[in-house]
Amino acid sequence: MLGNFIYYNPTKLYFGNQAAENLVNAISGYGKKVLLVYGGGSIKTNGIYDTVVNALKAAGKDFTEVSGVMPNPTLEKVKEGVAVARSCDADLILAVGGGSTIDYAKAVSASTWYDGDAWENFWVKQNEPAPDQRIIPVGAVLTLSGTGSEMNGGSVITDEETKMKLGKVFGYRLYPQFAILNPEFTFSLPKNQMVAGMFDIMSHILEQYFSGDDDSTSDYISEGLMRSLIASSRVAIKDPKNYEARSNIMWIATWALNTLIGKGKTQDWEVHMIAHAIGAYTHATHGMALAGVSGAYYKFIMKAAQARLARFARVVWDVPADGKTEEDLAAAGVAALEAWIKEIGAASNISVLGVTEDMIEDIANATLLGGGYKTLTRDDVIQILKASL
Ligand code: NZQ
Ligand code: ZN
Repeated sequence: MLGNFIYYNPTKLYFGNQAAENLVNAISGYGKKVLLVYGGGSIKTNGIYDTVVNALKAAGKDFTEVSGVMPNPTLEKVKEGVAVARSCDADLILAVGGGSTIDYAKAVSASTWYDGDAWENFWVKQNEPAPDQRIIPVGAVLTLSGTGSEMNGGSVITDEETKMKLGKVFGYRLYPQFAILNPEFTFSLPKNQMVAGMFDIMSHILEQYFSGDDDSTSDYISEGLMRSLIASSRVAIKDPKNYEARSNIMWIATWALNTLIGKGKTQDWEVHMIAHAIGAYTHATHGMALAGVSGAYYKFIMKAAQARLARFARVVWDVPADGKTEEDLAAAGVAALEAWIKEIGAASNISVLGVTEDMIEDIANATLLGGGYKTLTRDDVIQILKASL
């Protein structure tokens, strides 16, 4: 375990099929005015809206709603939320939904009392809000397991005008102060969203696992999380209402991206950077965009990441090592990942997401970061995208 780091996480989690009973208590410590944000209406058909509204009433809150937060939330929509948050002078933003809604709540929180151009300052320049800037606390009721947004500072927003989908990882003040994690709240998800969430979780773990060569506890935790995810995914695909599997998946998702397994690791997040650029051009579902490029990406970094891929094959996928070279094992690791993508029904390529050859030059302007086993160039991204079609 190398490196120096701080581990701290301010989010209080309430987990289990009775988690929502804690909502009244969780919101009681904040002021009277709540901004309730949610997506396109799934919470109205599955009953979660009623549960939340009853809790708001029981806690004696006045609430104002912003609905219609879309998957891959847009800057335009953030501006709408900022205007509402200002006019109702919200004391708490309660996000009820998946990663898009929770990311959105953080974006509105950071932007409402910032006087300049919030997009430029937080997402383009990656600045933090000044210590004396007012931040509206965010709380979350999670309805989709995948992003980890319920316990992190991430907020991914798309500017449709410039076709930029950018993530800002805010500091602790923007983490949800509490999150209600009831696995049953995910039962109503359409299968493709459940699957996209599963692959998103896998990709978060992989982005952190594929770096470093020391004997790191983070890697052992990551391997355990991946093994549990694979086992639970196989149950959930056949039996989506299996509580044990869905609750494991929800818990894995949270730990995959609440900073724990990234400790002591350098990270490049290149699959995410490419997938975000794909999302900006196609509005593709996030987890599907990740799946669509992952096979080609891990083949591309195979030489540089050979030892780690070989370990991935042995420990995560139980590929027998006997008689195999490290190179054989590394290839088997990528093959196992690709087979799992097919098995769960995630996207095996990016053509199915609407990416065409003529978009590749634009998508290749994805942000490139160093840190993993192979620092990519723009030409490398073009090759990966072509191989993903
Ligand atoms: O809008 P509604 O009607 O609620 O429908 C949503 C939406 O259409 C639906 N849904 C959610 N819960 C449901 C449900 N439908 C039925 N029953 C339920 N219980 O699912 C659709 C997708 O929801 P969304 O919130 O967009 O999905 P997800 O949680 O995958 O979030 C994706 C967004 O998070 C960002 C992605 O880039 C993308 O913008 N990410 C955020 C991260 C973070 N904060 O750290 C990291 C991730 O890597 C990711 O980039
Ligand atoms: Zn992701």
